[in-house]
Amino acid sequence: MRLLVTGGCGFIGTNFIYHMLGTNPDVEIVNVDKLTYAGNKANMIPLEQSEEGKRYAFCRADIADMDAMRAIIAEHKPDAVVNFAAESHVDRSIHDPSPFVTTNVLGVQTLMTAAMDAGIERFVHISTDEVYGTLAPDAPAFTEGHPLEPNSPYSASKASADLFVRSFWKTYGYPAVITRCSNNYGPWQFPEKLIPLMITLAEQDKPLPIYGDGMQVRDWIYVTDHCRGVEMALKAGRPGAVYNFGGNAEKANLDVVRAILSAMGKPDDLISYVKDRPGHDRRYAMDYSLAKDELGFEPLYDFERGLAETLAWYTDHRAWRDSVQSGEYRSFMDDWYGERR
Ligand code: NAD
Ligand code: TYD
Repeated sequence: MRLLVTGGCGFIGTNFIYHMLGTNPDVEIVNVDKLTYAGNKANMIPLEQSEEGKRYAFCRADIADMDAMRAIIAEHKPDAVVNFAAESHVDRSIHDPSPFVTTNVLGVQTLMTAAMDAGIERFVHISTDEVYGTLAPDAPAFTEGHPLEPNSPYSASKASADLFVRSFWKTYGYPAVITRCSNNYGPWQFPEKLIPLMITLAEQDKPLPIYGDGMQVRDWIYVTDHCRGVEMALKAGRPGAVYNFGGNAEKANLDVVRAILSAMGKPDDLISYVKDRPGHDRRYAMDYSLAKDELGFEPLYDFERGLAETLAWYTDHRAWRDSVQSGEYRSFMDDWYGERR
C-alpha cells in the first residue's frame, strides 16, 4: 500500500510515519509537508538513514495548492491519503485565524478534491475532540453524535473541514473517514503545547504559565496510541464514518504540570498563574466505544508510563528542542532537500 501522508514533519505525522513504516513492511509513504514553523524535516533523518527509509519520499508542498496536489498524486499514485496537515495551536488561532482557514478548510477541500478526482478510494482526515466544544464537569463524554460547537478559531476551522469531508461523502459518495482524537503527547511535539513547553521551562527553572485556575480538563493520549487508531481507521474504517479516540486519562492541567514537576524533581512554586485563554474550553472527554466496537481500538499507554517515556525522550533530544525553538533548523535544512514547487 502506498500512502500519501500530509503534515508528516509535524508532531503526530512524524510519529505516524515511523509507526507505519516500522510495523508494515509492505507500506510506502510519500510525505507532503509545507514546512511551517511546526514542520521539521530533520525529524526524518533517522528514518532516511534506516532500512525503512527506502520506502519513504518527501515533497515540500502546500495542501491548499491544487496544481501541486494533482502533480504529486499523478507522480506517486497513492492508494490512500492520510491528512494530518494543519495549523494546530489554539493560541496562534486566537492571534490570527487566517492561516487556519487557508490550511484547515481550503487545504482540506483542495486535497480531498485532488484525491477524489484521481480515484483514490481511501481518505482519512485527522480531526480533533475540540470540534465538539466544551463539557460540564459531570456531563457524559463526547460521542460522535455530539453537536459540533467549536469555541476557538482553531476548532472552528477543524469543524468546518469535518463538514466538508461529510459533504463529500453525502454528495459525491467519496468514502472518506474522519478521526477525532483527544490531546496527544509524546516525542516530537513542538514545545508550544502544554506538556513539552512545561518540560522545557521546568528544566530551565523558569515560571510555568498556567492559564486561569488550571482546572481545565483534557483527556491525554500517548501519540502512538493515536497512530494505532489512525492505522485502524485507514485499514478498516467504514466509508463516511467518524471515529473518536481517547486515552482514558482525564486530567486537570494543574495535575499534569504537578506530575511533570514531581518527575523532574522541581518545586511546585515554579507554577505561575496567568490570564486565562479567551474562550477557553473547560473540559474534553472522549467516548471511543464506536472505535472499540468497529475497529478494536483501545489505548495501550496509561498516563504515568506515557509521561515517563515523554520526559525521557525530551531529555535525550535536547539538541532537537533547541534547534526547533531557535528556528535555526529552517535555514540549514533547506540545503538538504530541494524544494518542490
Ligand atoms: P503540528 O502543528 O505539530 O504539525 C502540523 C504539520 O502540518 C507541520 O509539519 C506543518 O508544516 C504541516 N502543515 C501546516 N500547514 C500545511 C499546509 N498548508 N500544507 C502542508 N503541510 C502543512 O500538528 P500535530 O499536533 O501533529 O497535529 C496533526 C493533526 O492532528 C492536525 O490536523 C490536528 O488538528 C490533529 N490533532 C492534533 C491533536 C494534538 O493533541 N496535537 C489532537 C487531535 C487532533
Ligand atoms: P494545548 O497544549 O495548547 O492544547 P489544547 O488547547 O489544544 O487543548 O493546551 C492544553 C491545555 O493547557 C489547555 O487547557 C490550555 C492549557 N495551557 C496552559 O495552561 N498554559 C500554557 O502555557 C499552554 C500552552 C496551555
